[in-house]
Amino acid sequence: MTWFYFIMVVALFTPPIDNGRKTVRRILMIAQDEHYQTLNQALQGLIQGESDALANLANSAALLFQSLEKINWAGFYLFKENQLILGPFQGKPACIRIALGKGVCGTAADKREAIVVEDVHQFPGHIACDGASASEIVIPIIKDDTLLGVLDIDSPVKARFNEEDRRGLQGFIEILSANIHWEGLLR
Ligand code: SME
Repeated sequence: MTWFYFIMVVALFTPPIDNGRKTVRRILMIAQDEHYQTLNQALQGLIQGESDALANLANSAALLFQSLEKINWAGFYLFKENQLILGPFQGKPACIRIALGKGVCGTAADKREAIVVEDVHQFPGHIACDGASASEIVIPIIKDDTLLGVLDIDSPVKARFNEEDRRGLQGFIEILSANIHWEGLLR
């Protein structure tokens, strides 16, 4: 009889808890989307009317570093000399050259697709620039089918980045790739 009452209690309370979690998740997703909308509007305002690509990328890295929570590195690697070379960033000094196909950045650039890494220690070939990094997101920058570089963001928290981050940052990159004069950067 005790088990019967136990199961009844669980059956009674489980659905509201589950629905509650889904609702909380939905609210967080909307909040995250709005956060990225605001961030991307700020980016537009920041780079609008400025033709210097290096200055724009430097400010973009600073904007990300100031706006996103729980991150320890945000910046760009540019595709030059058939490899990724460190560009404007915020965070600790980082490795300068990354070959295509190497690490998270080189893999994202090579595959030309965004990579979200929940635990960098589980990613084969991950390049550790800052020992504090636990998770990472890399978005390739591609314009007219040409690889320009990648945006790389690290977090000291495991599984920091999710699908909403990928979508929001993809929007960030689209604004950059359309509005920056890349020719001056990529010798
Ligand atoms: N972790 C990157 C290297 C760049 S740093 O994180 C800044 C990678 O594995 O490609």
